[in-house]
Amino acid sequence: MAEKKTVLTLITGADKGIGFATAQALGKKGQHILIGSRNQERGEKAVEQLNAAGIKADFIQLDVTDKAQITAAADKIDADYGYLNILINNAGIALDHHQPASKLSTDTIRQDFDVNYFGLIDVTQAMIPLLKAGKPAKIINVSSNMGSMGLASDPSSRFYKVNSLGYQSSKASVNFATIIFSKELATDDITVNSVNPGWTATGFGGRPEDAPAPAGMQDVATGAAQIIKMASLPMDDKTTGTFTENDGTLPW
Ligand SMILES: NC(=O)c1ccc[n+]([C@@H]2O[C@H](COP(=O)([O-])OP(=O)(O)OC[C@H]3O[C@@H](n4cnc5c(N)ncnc54)[C@H](OP(=O)(O)O)[C@@H]3O)[C@@H](O)[C@H]2O)c1
Repeated sequence: MAEKKTVLTLITGADKGIGFATAQALGKKGQHILIGSRNQERGEKAVEQLNAAGIKADFIQLDVTDKAQITAAADKIDADYGYLNILINNAGIALDHHQPASKLSTDTIRQDFDVNYFGLIDVTQAMIPLLKAGKPAKIINVSSNMGSMGLASDPSSRFYKVNSLGYQSSKASVNFATIIFSKELATDDITVNSVNPGWTATGFGGRPEDAPAPAGMQDVATGAAQIIKMASLPMDDKTTGTFTENDGTLPW
């Protein structure tokens, strides 16, 4: 019988928060994790921590807004492995701090988009040849319930009154990328899905990481759970073009 190849998974922004929790869980399930991080020290420390727990992990320097670094990362993965099975586009920022849309600078909105949307597109495009080489393959885009236009426009939703134009529109755009890429890549055996982690106790948006979690805020393991579930589906699973969270499907 042919030897089963280890699943090779790249996670962007994986040195902390939801990305790191995802790396820990998928590594424990036997996946070989590539920790994408723009901060070499933190990325290497994360890898050390995973290796110490018996997880196969390596560091890849990856600022998703730096095209040269993205190309170098794809070249390195190609040279070292020649393929990739799972890409988890997790790196994200939120800089607009609920300022009214009428006052929010487009410079801030652009920064949100540079990381959350254009960074995700650039990384995805660069990794597609490796995912094709490793197919069947999966792309998981870490989105947000705040990017759901269905929830934002529903007066009965708690997101109706949320106001964060840069972050919300960047994550709505991520969802659109999921829809479009899922259709283009269906014939290549690559699934593409969006996941909402939910409100999670990380350092996201400048929150102090060690601050006590307010009521309703989940721990990091819960925030990572749906990403882990989607990345643990059998490699030949055909689920694609979905937007889900722990509680089920979300409206786009
Ligand atoms: N926490 C929540 O409540 C929540 C809710 C819904 C969705 N999400 C989404 O979940 C994802 C992970 O967030 P988190 O809560 O784990 O936040 P986090 O702890 O702040 O982690 C975000 C990660 O993204 C990285 N990152 C930021 N800009 C980057 C860039 N240009 N290139 C590469 N990496 C970059 C960060 O690195 P640095 O430390 O170097 O900045 C960090 O490693 C994000 O996409 C976020 O939008 C979070």
